[in-house]
Amino acid sequence: MYFTDDRIDELRAKVKGRLSEKRFVHTLGVEDMAVKIGQLCLPDSIDELRVAALLHDISKEYSEAEQFEIAERHNISFTEADLVAPPIWHSITGPLVIADEFPSFASERVLSAVRNHTGGDPDMSVFDEIIFLADYIEDGRAYIMCEQVRNQFFELAAAAQSRDDYIQALHRATLSSLENTIKWFVLRGRSYHERTEHTRKAIMAKIER
Ligand SMILES: [Fe+2]
Ligand SMILES: [Fe+2]
Repeated sequence: MYFTDDRIDELRAKVKGRLSEKRFVHTLGVEDMAVKIGQLCLPDSIDELRVAALLHDISKEYSEAEQFEIAERHNISFTEADLVAPPIWHSITGPLVIADEFPSFASERVLSAVRNHTGGDPDMSVFDEIIFLADYIEDGRAYIMCEQVRNQFFELAAAAQSRDDYIQALHRATLSSLENTIKWFVLRGRSYHERTEHTRKAIMAKIER
């Protein structure tokens, strides 16, 4: 689906009215980064990447009770694994909110990228992966681990000679971000969503050695 610049500007203004200042600044960072990665890996989809980035955290600031209510209203039940991971709930409710409140932006690719942006998915598309990585390495993320992955991606991209090389850079950086996330949970003795581990294995299999 193609979105004009005017419609994207309108969407950006609407999203600004829905999010806290901090979350909106992060969202703009994800939009910028999705464009940068997209220009290398998926240059014909920049407009749709912008839309997915702008909407990716649309329900992140809803309370747990509100998220439950939205899921219930759509007959979606959280799995056991979902229940112990409240930070991923907004990737379940986000697509529902987008379909209800932003139907003209609810393309299959936008909904899929929002659904997969937190825990990942073993079947993530390149489009999904761009939003996933952009969320982790947007310029506002100052953690050392995020900076390292950002540098890794752009260093690999600088040496790339083909679209396939750019996509390999995307896979490698995404794998690093998943490994960091898993390490973070393990170091704290906390459990993490099983999907993150399945995604890590699937991305590893896509990397050419
Ligand atoms: Fe998120
Ligand atoms: Fe985010």
